[in-house]
Amino acid sequence: MQIIQRLDEFREWSRQNRTVQRALVPTMGALHEGHLSLCDRAREEVGAGGHVVATVFVNPTQFGPNEDLDAYPRQLEEDAKACEKRGVDVLFAPNPADMYFPDASVEIHENVLSTGLCGASRPGHFTGVCTVVAKLFNLAQPDVAVFGEKDFQQLAVIRRMVRDLNFPVQIVGGNTVRESDGLAMSSRNLYLTDAERTQAPVIYRSLCEVRDGIADGPVKSPQDAIAMLEAKIGSAAPAKIDYLQCVHPETLEPLNEFGEGGYRLIVAVFFGKPRLIDNLGPV
Ligand code: PAF
Repeated sequence: MQIIQRLDEFREWSRQNRTVQRALVPTMGALHEGHLSLCDRAREEVGAGGHVVATVFVNPTQFGPNEDLDAYPRQLEEDAKACEKRGVDVLFAPNPADMYFPDASVEIHENVLSTGLCGASRPGHFTGVCTVVAKLFNLAQPDVAVFGEKDFQQLAVIRRMVRDLNFPVQIVGGNTVRESDGLAMSSRNLYLTDAERTQAPVIYRSLCEVRDGIADGPVKSPQDAIAMLEAKIGSAAPAKIDYLQCVHPETLEPLNEFGEGGYRLIVAVFFGKPRLIDNLGPV
């Protein structure tokens, strides 16, 4: 596996390998099985003869002023070993000073899907995400890019950006990978205290119970679903609910009733400092 940190070197690699199918897995590092499963998915997309490119870049522009940018785990050596073991061909890990000009003045705003949910709690977050993902697409020139479904809103926003700006990239969603007790894998799980870690699986447990309730009949409306989630998750100290919603899976609009288009239960919950997100749709 090649590790590339310089932008000009990465561009050159990209240019020289233009004829080989290429799948990109953008990450912020601290890689866990969830990320590595995205690399597997990327390999499935391009096959043995293709190139899987992973990126590790803790993108400063998607963190708010009071968020955990400085504390965000950075472990490039371990990440590189994990990528190599998983058959990644190139790991691109640029320095922040090289990625952004000090007087950078162009950003990409998505104005509809980004406004609610995490966008409401984290103003500017999706502008940072769209801008860095667009830059990574321009540098890496991938045919396919894989993003985790755990970040359901992010996936929807990136699909919309690609559609609206005609990026020649196919976006693939990778399944959420979970710990054995159901907690969705996340770099932020590292920050949970033992007590918080013990309680955190209530999120997925509750999502499953509500989903089953919808399928079996007792949960008749999105409002019932939200009330049930609130009761279950809200009663598990020290959970502090940021949002709980039942939305249309593509428009991310809150639903008033269940219909043909399906639904997504989507939550963000603070357990102490860490803010955990998760989501679930019909089986
Ligand atoms: O999902 C993430 O880790 C980040 O938001 C991404 C897509 C790598 C952009 O920085």
